[in-house]
Amino acid sequence: MSKKKAAKPAPKKAAKKSAPQSKAILTENRVFKPSAEFSKKARIGSMAEYRRMYEESIKQPDKFFGREAKELTWQKPFTKVMEWKCPNAKWFLGGKLNVSENCLDRHLSGPNKTKAALIWEGEPGEKRVLTYQQLHREVCRFANVLKRNKVKKGDRVMIYLPMIPEAAIAMLACTRIGAVHSVVFGGFSADSIKDRVLDCGAKIIITSDGGYRRGAVVPLKKNVDDALKSGETAVETVIVFRRTGQDVHIEEGRDVWWHRELEYVDAHCPAASMDSESPLFILYTSGSTGKPKGILHSTAGYLLHAQMTCKYVFDLRADDVYWCTADVGWVTGHSYLVYGPLALGATSLMYEGAPNWPENDRFWRIIEEYAVSVFYTAPTAIRAFMKWGDEWLKKHDLSSLRLLGTVGEPINPEAWMWYHTQVGGGKCPIVDTWWQTETGGHMITPIPGATPTKPGTATLPFFGVDVAIVDDLGKEVGKDEQGKLVIRKPWPSMLRGIWGDKKRYQETYWSEFDGWYFAGDGARKDKDGYIWIIGRIDDVLNVAGHRLGTAEVESALVSHPAVAEAAVVGRPDEMKGQGVVCFVTVKEGVATGRELADELKKHVRKVIGPVATPDEGRFAAALPKTRSGKIMRRLLKQIAAGEVIKGDTTTLEDLSVIAQLAASGED
Ligand code: WT7
Repeated sequence: MSKKKAAKPAPKKAAKKSAPQSKAILTENRVFKPSAEFSKKARIGSMAEYRRMYEESIKQPDKFFGREAKELTWQKPFTKVMEWKCPNAKWFLGGKLNVSENCLDRHLSGPNKTKAALIWEGEPGEKRVLTYQQLHREVCRFANVLKRNKVKKGDRVMIYLPMIPEAAIAMLACTRIGAVHSVVFGGFSADSIKDRVLDCGAKIIITSDGGYRRGAVVPLKKNVDDALKSGETAVETVIVFRRTGQDVHIEEGRDVWWHRELEYVDAHCPAASMDSESPLFILYTSGSTGKPKGILHSTAGYLLHAQMTCKYVFDLRADDVYWCTADVGWVTGHSYLVYGPLALGATSLMYEGAPNWPENDRFWRIIEEYAVSVFYTAPTAIRAFMKWGDEWLKKHDLSSLRLLGTVGEPINPEAWMWYHTQVGGGKCPIVDTWWQTETGGHMITPIPGATPTKPGTATLPFFGVDVAIVDDLGKEVGKDEQGKLVIRKPWPSMLRGIWGDKKRYQETYWSEFDGWYFAGDGARKDKDGYIWIIGRIDDVLNVAGHRLGTAEVESALVSHPAVAEAAVVGRPDEMKGQGVVCFVTVKEGVATGRELADELKKHVRKVIGPVATPDEGRFAAALPKTRSGKIMRRLLKQIAAGEVIKGDTTTLEDLSVIAQLAASGED
């Protein structure tokens, strides 16, 4: 996307890129108020109260956040709430604290000591409960293992683990000693690990022999071995947790077993004293150009926001059993499986595997068995369960649920209604939370005891979030008009940068509109001021709630010897939100067909990982281009969606290309 300052006139670009669901949301007018019973018990029980707090958070952020931040445990109190010089924000200046101390130690002096911090279920069915006291002990021991392996404050530690308690333990252990973790989702490939290790300069990787997914074993350690094979990285140590017991290669002098290392350490490890702004973690996410960006989050602001949203948005209580189904490899797993709930002293449930293993009712089985009361998942999962049929839910007692949440992509009203009636029994408020890896936590969301909800909208901004929907000149658009979503003030958990790339940070987020954060999403506001997210308006896809850069997939495709040129676009997909369609031209003499299409799909899986598997590959002699040589993505999107080609094609270089591409579908 071209970068423009707000002051320059610009073509009406955003308006053209509307997403498939816009028709449905325009006609949606059902309203669901929280029940009087829910509101009475909730922390925020009315719109008046929400509005009062919101206004204070915007007009007097120092007062609002200064007060909220007192709920964290500080080793040394902060002296100033915020300092802002675009694009650099500092929050809670002068303060010292430690994240693991906030998530663990401070809960040990009261009844929470013996309370379940983590409840875990493995895909094959094993169960584990770690109380706050036990989790504290494990974190301290593993922090000592890290120290033993020469990890120091500020060092980057890569974590590539399945969804097992050790993932949370490793993350918290890093925070205990002030190391910066970078978790890589298990669905990424060896090449992706290597890129990330090289980018963040990690000297140590924590992994396991394997993990379970849909009954199969995922070869995590093998992927790490492959990532390190070329010897380009600075990795000196790999700590391997034994999960599956499968045979793995152990490289002498580099690889050590987690359980063996524990034999050398004790359970005492003081919590390092960290500045409010110390880097906490790096998490890679896709952008519209080039390689994934290492989104950097810092300590105090991030933790406060994670805790505060668990308190106000999930309304988490002492007796809740809270389950966020996201993987720790995504930001949702960071903020809402580990840091937020644990900082608040809640019980967080973690499940290792697939939602349909061994059968389609695994989630409902878990909700019933552990009496889950607050449940947070993604629209793509909801749509899958909807498709699998109500009989799977009907087998289970879901009456323990009191609050439901969704995240990751716009939820279509049909899925929202199904979630509301079939899963929530019509009694649970739904919080549709809009946010991003970059924002650290919820930004636009209902407050469950206050906000009347409508199916398909994330409703209103959270405290401190000054959101607007603007045109290309930065002017707010009118009611029901589509525009670009911007945030006009810094917020505590905003990203502090892109690791190692100041320029890209500035350009990506702060240059489209001077001084405002540009989220990359299109949105519109209805008559009640509710915000309806349309989806990405840049070249980023949202596949089953996961972000994928078209440029990344394209670069994976052209790394295959048969490919001359590639263009990747999304097409609406009933289940996944978007599917990945690849348009490919091959080199002289290469035979195209189903076989090559399959090979290219496999190739992308190998280069990026199973998360990026294309849905369809199409071949043509050339890609449609303007006379200046730019690929016409708008046309490709229409072709991918099976639409009749409309709009201006006069600048197209070779019209026959369109016919060829349109005819080249896989079936
Ligand atoms: C993109 C961010 C936030 C954790 C999961 C994804 C889309 C996210 C919603 C929602 C509509 C949503 C946006 C955003 N998105 N939540 N409730 N309604 N769209 O994090 O990978 O950083 O992706 O996900 O397009 O920009 P992410």
